[in-house]
Amino acid sequence: MQRLARQWQRAGAPVALVPTMGFLHAGHISLIHRARRTVGRRGRVVVSIYVNPTQFAPTEDLKRYPRDREGDLRQCRAAGADAVFLPSDAEMYPGGFSTYVEEQALSRGMEGASRPAHFRGVTTVVAKLLLLTQPGVAVFGAKDWQQAAVVGRMVRDLNFPVRIVVAETLREGDGLAMSSRNHYLLPAQRAQATVLWRMLEEARRQVRAARQPLSAALLRRRLQALLRQAPEARLDYIEFFQPDTLEPVRRVRRGDHMALAVWIGPTRLIDNATLE
Ligand code: PAJ
Repeated sequence: MQRLARQWQRAGAPVALVPTMGFLHAGHISLIHRARRTVGRRGRVVVSIYVNPTQFAPTEDLKRYPRDREGDLRQCRAAGADAVFLPSDAEMYPGGFSTYVEEQALSRGMEGASRPAHFRGVTTVVAKLLLLTQPGVAVFGAKDWQQAAVVGRMVRDLNFPVRIVVAETLREGDGLAMSSRNHYLLPAQRAQATVLWRMLEEARRQVRAARQPLSAALLRRRLQALLRQAPEARLDYIEFFQPDTLEPVRRVRRGDHMALAVWIGPTRLIDNATLE
């Protein structure tokens, strides 16, 4: 992969990377199109597909994470990707692997609080993928807002010569953010999963209607009432924060950001939006 990336560079072709864990859906594909738009027809778009074990806790869904290599390759080809990089575990984590990249501020709250080793795994694998594919641009989805912020901070702090582009979240018709994990939902759970989007929309409505900034605690309580309408839903967190720094706000106003994580039965879903 590194050799190919250097060839592209010598030929003067700009390179864009779209890192994924596969089981691709329209959200991933929209990132591939965004990558193409940034590098143009002469550029090269590489999609990486790797279910990264270091970002899963032992209790999490690594083993049952959905996979479909043939379907993924077909979709990458149809979307016009120039290369698909599918490294093996042995290549990514050879015996005696002992070096990790850790971001120590933005990765602490939200997903980092619920999943303690998660972001260390993400920053480590993304650092490796950037070194392997040497892109000028890497495209991430707003769906994982905190992840994009943590990667942006890593790239700044460690001087990776890459620009991070954050592309908007693609949603189903009823608002559910597309995710490989939606595949786990049984039909009754799928119907309840729209509660995440309904909570984001309700928060938007409340913030728009309020004449002054709203107490985060009060808004959180109001949103929890919506959650009770979904019998299998259980809240992990709701946070209100500044979109760039992820700094929590105690009073919520337009332009602040909201993120939430909700269990629907055994499946954990996340979503976020700007409250505007
Ligand atoms: P994965 O969950 O496969 O997501 C790959 C990329 O697709 C991420 O940047 C994610 O934010 C984006 N994405 C997911 N759902 C989306 C949607 N509905 N709309 C737009 N973009 C969406 O995130 C990971 O993999 C991994 O942590 C990875 C960065 C590859 C490191 O292992």
